Amino acid sequence: PRSWGWRALIALPLLGGCSGPQSTLQPAGVDAEQIARLFWWMSGFAILIWGVVIGCAVFVTYIKPRSHDSRVARWLILGGGVVVPPLVLGVLLAFGLSLLPSLSAPAEDGLQISVSGERWWRRVRYPTPSGGTVELANEVRLPVGERVGFRLTSPDVIHSFWIPSLGGKVDMIPGRTTRLSLEPTEVGVFRGACAEFCGTSHALMNFRVVVMEPDAFDTWLEQQASPARPPQGEVARRGQEAFLANGCGACHAIRGTSADGVLGPDLTHVGSRLSLAAGTLPTDAESFERWISHPDDIKPGVNMPAFDMLPAPQIHSIATYLSQLE
Ligand code: CUA
Repeated sequence: PRSWGWRALIALPLLGGCSGPQSTLQPAGVDAEQIARLFWWMSGFAILIWGVVIGCAVFVTYIKPRSHDSRVARWLILGGGVVVPPLVLGVLLAFGLSLLPSLSAPAEDGLQISVSGERWWRRVRYPTPSGGTVELANEVRLPVGERVGFRLTSPDVIHSFWIPSLGGKVDMIPGRTTRLSLEPTEVGVFRGACAEFCGTSHALMNFRVVVMEPDAFDTWLEQQASPARPPQGEVARRGQEAFLANGCGACHAIRGTSADGVLGPDLTHVGSRLSLAAGTLPTDAESFERWISHPDDIKPGVNMPAFDMLPAPQIHSIATYLSQLE
């Protein structure tokens, strides 16, 4: 009896997945609700199969231990082993297949967002109302109650795009464009993850998903489409100078300056993002300093080189400048 307590204790962390910003069992989207319903039906039927099998086992072990009645055995094998499982699995298969067309249908009209999974971050592109494109990193914002289409791809290895609270998981495959559509039903901040092992920092390519009221979303997109704001104060001004002088603009773009690199994330409004380094750090000046000095310590294998050879005051000024880019 004592060991049961331990088993219950060990099983307890499993319940940790039942709620929170990354739970399939707390759906906040039309597609996630369908998937959650399927999950509960499958669990129910799995318990039914388990009950029938265990019931048969208990019956032959304890209730009819000395029975040589072959008719009973035949019915047990026929019922518990042959008839019930295909019936139950057949119902579940039909249920699952009936959901597929709606879950995999691409959203033809409405907002189309392109997301590229790269080692180890996500490049997110929005079309703007004026016909341009806005590029951000590791942050997806969606208007509540609207069906949104995603075009997913990858330039390097297979990644995956998965926002458990909103819907299903689709792989991001080099050389191909996969599609996904989602319709969030609740305002809130959710979490997305990579679900294909893609190398050293696979676990560190998370992203935030912010579901907003449509008006707030439009305001946000308009703000993101504007060029970067000029540096505020002497430290930030020196930071911008150092950013451009040290060649940061060869990999990063900051719209409104001469920095127009495309290898790394666009930093035009990096200070307004919810996280730095794909969900690993907050976007304050201190975190930018840590990231610029030793990105490899925070995200092993990252393409960005360490800039710890720069004098500390220079790193501080660049970090101040970037954290101001709201
Ligand atoms: Cu990208 Cu795992």
